[in-house]
Amino acid sequence: MAKLSVNLGDRGYPIYIEPNFKRLGKACADARLSGKMLIVTDNNVQKYYCDDCVRELEGLCTEVSVHVIQAGEINKSLDTVRDIYRKLVELKADRKSVLVALGGGVTGDITGFAAATYMRGIPFIQIPTSLMAQADSSIGGKTGVDFEGCKNMVGAFYQPSLVYININALRTLPDRELKSGMAEVIKHGLIRDSDFYEYISSNIDKIYSFDENTLAYMTKMNCTIKGNVVEQDEREGGLRAILNFGHTIGHAIECVSGFTMLHGECVSVGMVGAYKLAHKMGMTDEDTVGRIEASLRKAGLPVKAQGMDADKVFDKMFSDKKVKDDKLNFVLPKGIGEVIYCTVEKEAPIREVLTELVGK
Ligand SMILES: NC(=O)c1ccc[n+]([C@@H]2O[C@H](COP(=O)([O-])OP(=O)(O)OC[C@H]3O[C@@H](n4cnc5c(N)ncnc54)[C@H](O)[C@@H]3O)[C@@H](O)[C@H]2O)c1
Ligand SMILES: [Zn+2]
Repeated sequence: MAKLSVNLGDRGYPIYIEPNFKRLGKACADARLSGKMLIVTDNNVQKYYCDDCVRELEGLCTEVSVHVIQAGEINKSLDTVRDIYRKLVELKADRKSVLVALGGGVTGDITGFAAATYMRGIPFIQIPTSLMAQADSSIGGKTGVDFEGCKNMVGAFYQPSLVYININALRTLPDRELKSGMAEVIKHGLIRDSDFYEYISSNIDKIYSFDENTLAYMTKMNCTIKGNVVEQDEREGGLRAILNFGHTIGHAIECVSGFTMLHGECVSVGMVGAYKLAHKMGMTDEDTVGRIEASLRKAGLPVKAQGMDADKVFDKMFSDKKVKDDKLNFVLPKGIGEVIYCTVEKEAPIREVLTELVGK
């Protein structure tokens, strides 16, 4: 269907966008991956896609094993990583062995971290099955786990050897998870490409009915936008921070909700917040704020998080890692398709926006 690449010199890799798993074996052979393979997947994804992947990989004449983890962010922990190490030792995996992450962002982040650290690094591949993972987390090499209640506290930058996306895997994804992933897709348009934003807004019905051509185009654009940002700033020294658009407020809401709201839902509210703040600062007009809200609603995403305490959300933002010298840093929009990274000195407009968002 399509093959893209992330150009990072000797850490570069291909991204395959396919309608099934039939080219997985060939993709691995082309990447010269032929050692023992351990597929890490979660108990939801296993029942749908594990057998297909095992079949394709066994075609490489290699030993393929499977390790199933329990689904859920709560299991994105060092304990889960330890179990993967144990399994690798049991299999006598060596430095040519390959870890295969088959699943959503949780599986990808955990497996990537295990790959980054087992024997100081073994190859791994990403087979993302959620929209969040296909659009965002499988590309770019951020791996890691949560630690003592803090998200992504322990981790490593470690790029996969390839990313293989089967767009039809989205068909079994729970509806709420699909919509949550759509927030990151819309984010890509808003930060880098107004045409892509328009395309998504006009084709949301086709996406939600899994039209192959639409999904393939959307995936290609996601990977191009994310890949391009990563190519320019692999380790988040600057530009890569724009991918955090909507995340300063979004992450605080996620924590205050006690993780009852999904990540993408919180990012959706956070993006509305960023537009409202940009409007208050004279960077974006009111019509644009309304348009963004309408398109997020149309995609089935929330634009408010009612019933939360605005002060709590504000305090949580200050404990966030984006705070420098007691000032809050935001990625703010200049219209549609361009954002800038800036420090907001005054508390008042931020508090006003939060009150509008959480409705207190
Ligand atoms: N590394 C990065 O750059 C990056 C970027 C964004 C998010 N993340 C991380 O990704 C995680 C969120 O990812 P996620 O939303 O994919 O969560 P997830 O992995 O928990 O998947 C969501 C749910 O969908 C299920 N699922 C996945 N694919 C399925 C399919 N095709 N059919 C049926 N069920 C399926 C999973 O079992 C899970 O229950 C968070 O931990 C976040 O921190 C990482
Ligand atoms: Zn995100």
